[in-house]
Amino acid sequence: MSQETVKGDAFENLLREERQFPPSKEFAASANVQEGIYAEANADRTAFWADQARALLTWSKDFETALDWSNPPFAKWFVGGEVNAAYNALDRHVENGLGDRVAIYFEGEPGDTETITYADLTERVKRAANAFESLGVTKGDRVAVYLPMIPEAVVTMLACARIGAVHSVVFGGFSSEALRSRIDDAEAKLVVTADGTYRRGKPSSLKPAVDEALAEDGHTVQHVVVVKRNGQDVEWTEGRDLHWSEVMAAASPEHTAVGHDSEHPLFILYTSGTTGKPKGILHTTGGYLTQTAFTHSAVFDLKPDTDVYWCTADIGWVTGHSYVAYAPLINGATQVMYEGTPDSPHQGRWWEIVEKYKVSILYTAPTAIRTMMKWGQDIPAKYDLSSIRVLGSVGEPINPEAWMWYREVIGHGKAPIVDTWWQTETGAIMVAPLPGVTATKPGSAQVPLPGIAVDVVDEAGHAVPNGHGGFLVIREPWPAMLRSIWGDPERFKDTYWSRFEGMYFAGDGAKKDDDGDIWLLGRVDDVMNVSGHRLSTTEIESALVSHPWVAEAAVVGAADETTGQAVVAFVILRGEAQIAEGEDPSAVLRAHVGHEIGPIAKPRHVLVVPELPKTRSGKIMRRLLKDVAEGRDPGDATTLADPTVMQKIAADLRK
Ligand code: WTA
Repeated sequence: MSQETVKGDAFENLLREERQFPPSKEFAASANVQEGIYAEANADRTAFWADQARALLTWSKDFETALDWSNPPFAKWFVGGEVNAAYNALDRHVENGLGDRVAIYFEGEPGDTETITYADLTERVKRAANAFESLGVTKGDRVAVYLPMIPEAVVTMLACARIGAVHSVVFGGFSSEALRSRIDDAEAKLVVTADGTYRRGKPSSLKPAVDEALAEDGHTVQHVVVVKRNGQDVEWTEGRDLHWSEVMAAASPEHTAVGHDSEHPLFILYTSGTTGKPKGILHTTGGYLTQTAFTHSAVFDLKPDTDVYWCTADIGWVTGHSYVAYAPLINGATQVMYEGTPDSPHQGRWWEIVEKYKVSILYTAPTAIRTMMKWGQDIPAKYDLSSIRVLGSVGEPINPEAWMWYREVIGHGKAPIVDTWWQTETGAIMVAPLPGVTATKPGSAQVPLPGIAVDVVDEAGHAVPNGHGGFLVIREPWPAMLRSIWGDPERFKDTYWSRFEGMYFAGDGAKKDDDGDIWLLGRVDDVMNVSGHRLSTTEIESALVSHPWVAEAAVVGAADETTGQAVVAFVILRGEAQIAEGEDPSAVLRAHVGHEIGPIAKPRHVLVVPELPKTRSGKIMRRLLKDVAEGRDPGDATTLADPTVMQKIAADLRK
């Protein structure tokens, strides 16, 4: 790990960014949270979170202690309390007379729609809870979810939560190999999937990947429940596979939710780390629900009676968990759920959806904003976007140009932008402006939320003064924090808590500006961020070397204007590699990575090189490869064991 990423030109440019946009008087006056909330939280952080927990959730049994931190880094929040996530997201709203409120406006890619009220959704979740129980799923069992962005995804997650089963959602873009390793790691009993979905107007399949994943024996899966979505033909394993429509029709619509312990596992979500093996990030119930609900209300200024909220994230990522499946429903919001791609059937599809449903809060990723910028502002200009009043950004640093475009073209210069920093591990937003309080700055996530202790420290773990850069850390436990890595508490300690004594190390570089506002500068470890998706260099390297042609591989994230970073791989082929005439090793290896991990991990380029630059101790110098990948002249190569390697690579690439 080095600090090179926190220096450099990009940051110097950011530091010259001096524009500020204070909230309008009207917005500030009616905002859900006011400036005083910081002082309130600072006075007593745990009491602050205890108040939020009681205000935002209905507990079936009140908790005794807000935080037990007697065995760090293993935290327990709201100890002794019992709470049911699904009851809080559904039943209680119906009991409070809000059964007719729309919970989800579903928009399918082909244009089919569904309006689902809180009463409807509650009934569907109750049926699914009964159905899963009838299949032998009990409290604590794991359920793998491999579904597209359709309402059944949310129904499945909440039904699991209702009965205390632990869901493990696997993004539909992951391959059968990746799915199998996640099923095995979590020892899932049930898989919920669909025949497929639609992508850019064409059917795209999911069930075949499940079949392939389960083809080899030795797994723990007893049943596969299959939603019919695109109607494509699928293979059927009698006895194992069941139709969603049939199991739901057979299940009773009555189901009483019981409270689960506040620390009962809610879900596992796999994410890429610095080693090859994805980590199963474990989240539990009470703290996670409290912080997701609080942040959703405070950061987006959600007014559940009038707002229409739309988060474009897929449920396969943490944003889709916290800010599609859980927080909006806990808060009684009306939200849009869209199945497809932004350019199908035309590049105005998102803005058409905003106009149609009068979306007032939009939460998306910088990569999408940059893509829309490329398509041109004439496209959003064709639609009425006047309903928009808050804009959110997540997943990667947002460059000031994209921020300004978002503000002017989508927000008409009025809607505050909240740039939200957080991670799969943090469970909920940690650093973000409060839209009624903070004067926003283009490109900065700015301030730790009330009750959150984020800091920037140097190599030795000392807080850096304003105007300096270093590493982002979290100093105090927070309610939605990961509790462990599934099945590997040692790895949890090593990965996050060993770099700096007593602090959580996020893996991000950051800088404090002269006002003390935080600017995120990207990862400082071997994790890449491509279109807001986390990918591990090591994981892709392992996939490459698993191919018989490859002797050695090194992967870097090269800066990319649209996707933030792009995967570039350097490989050395084995002498004995049997490559047929006309076969292109780069294309074969790209496809191989797609098969091993999923299409999202396919390198943009696979460059075949004669050697890799290594230090005398044998460590690959990725920095030099990054220079090559980004089209720069690799600078100082004198620390290499063989200083001529870079010339050889450059010469080879010119061929
Ligand atoms: C990056 C996504 C800058 C960061 C919620 C982090 C960001 C990783 C921002 C987590 C932001 C997320 N500004 N960088 N607003 N939000 N990141 O686990 O590098 O998919 O460590 O969670 O995304 O990605 P993850």
